[in-house]
Amino acid sequence: MLFKICFVLPLISIAIALDEPQKIKDKSTKLPPCKACTVLVESFNLGLERTKRGKHAGGDAAWEQEKMRVYKNSEVRLVEIQEQLCNEVKRGQDHCHMLSNDHESLIEEWFTSKQDEEPDLHAWLCINQLNVCCPSNTFGPTCQPCTDCNNNGKCKGNGTRKGNGQCLCDSGYAGINCNDCDENNYESFRDATKLLCTPCHAACGDGGCNGAGPKSCRKCKDGWRMDTETGCVDINECVDQHRACRPQQFCVNNEGSFSCLECDRSCDGCDGDGPDMCKKCADGYQLKDGKCQELKAEIDSQPEVVASMREEL
Ligand SMILES: *[C@@H]1O[C@H](CO)[C@@H](O)[C@H](O)[C@H]1NC(C)=O
Repeated sequence: MLFKICFVLPLISIAIALDEPQKIKDKSTKLPPCKACTVLVESFNLGLERTKRGKHAGGDAAWEQEKMRVYKNSEVRLVEIQEQLCNEVKRGQDHCHMLSNDHESLIEEWFTSKQDEEPDLHAWLCINQLNVCCPSNTFGPTCQPCTDCNNNGKCKGNGTRKGNGQCLCDSGYAGINCNDCDENNYESFRDATKLLCTPCHAACGDGGCNGAGPKSCRKCKDGWRMDTETGCVDINECVDQHRACRPQQFCVNNEGSFSCLECDRSCDGCDGDGPDMCKKCADGYQLKDGKCQELKAEIDSQPEVVASMREEL
C-alpha cells in the first residue's frame, strides 16, 4: 500500500502537471468575437435546458403549472443559470466569463422580456445586439450574401462579421464557385445540382487526366511511360539490375519507382531476399539444401558424431 502511494501518486501528479499547461492555455484562449458570443449563448442554452423543469418534477396540477410559468422568467432561474454559466467551456472559458459580465444587462433583458418573442438568443444577442455574427450564408460588417460554393467549399467568414465571402474549395475542387475539378481530378459525375470530382490515376503526371484509369492521363508521372494500348505503364527499373543497385543488393520494382535491399549475409550477390536467393555463397558459407549455410554451424549441428569420434581416439 505504501509502495502504491509512493509510486502511483507521483505518477498521477506528473500526468496532471503535464496536462495542466494545455488546460490553462485552452481556458485563457481569446476567441474571435462571433465565436466567443456563440460559446456564451451555447452555455446559456445549456443552462436553460438544465433548469427547464425548475427544482421539482413538474406536475399537471393547475397551481404547479402556474408556478412553472412564473419560474420561467424569474430572477431565481436566471441566478441558477448564471451560477454555472461558462463553467463547462474548455477553450475560451475566461473569455466566456468576461463576455457574460460585460453583457449581463443585455442577457437579463432577453431573459426577462424577450424570451417569447425572440426565442433565438444567438440571433438576438450575437447578430442584432452585439453585431459580431451574421446569419448563416452571409459574411462581413454588413452581412452580405456569401459566394455560392455549390456545396463543394466553405465561404470565408460565413456567419461572422469577418472574412471576404469567397469560397475555400474542398480538396479536388476549384474555381470561384468550386464548380470545377482541380488539375489532379476529373469530373466523374455532373448534373444541374451536383459535381463529383475524382482523383486521376496514380500514374498521371502534371496536366491531370480526362477520365478514370491510366489510359486517361494527359502525361505520365516519372517512373511510368506511355503505352498506346494500355496508357501509362510502370517502368520496371529492375530489368537493368546492374545499373539500378549495388552488387551486394537486390532490386524490387514498385509502381513508379524501385528500391534496393541488402542481400542476406550468407550471399555474395543475390536475386532476392534470404539465403536461398544467392548468386554465390559468401566466404565461410557453403551451398547445402539449396541454401548458403555457415561452415562452422554444420559441425556444431552434429555433436553426437563429434563425441563418438573423440571416444574412438
Ligand atoms: C455556412 O454555414 C452554415 C452553418 O452555419 C452551413 O450550413 C452553410 O453550408 C455554410 N455555407 C457556406 C457557403 O459555407
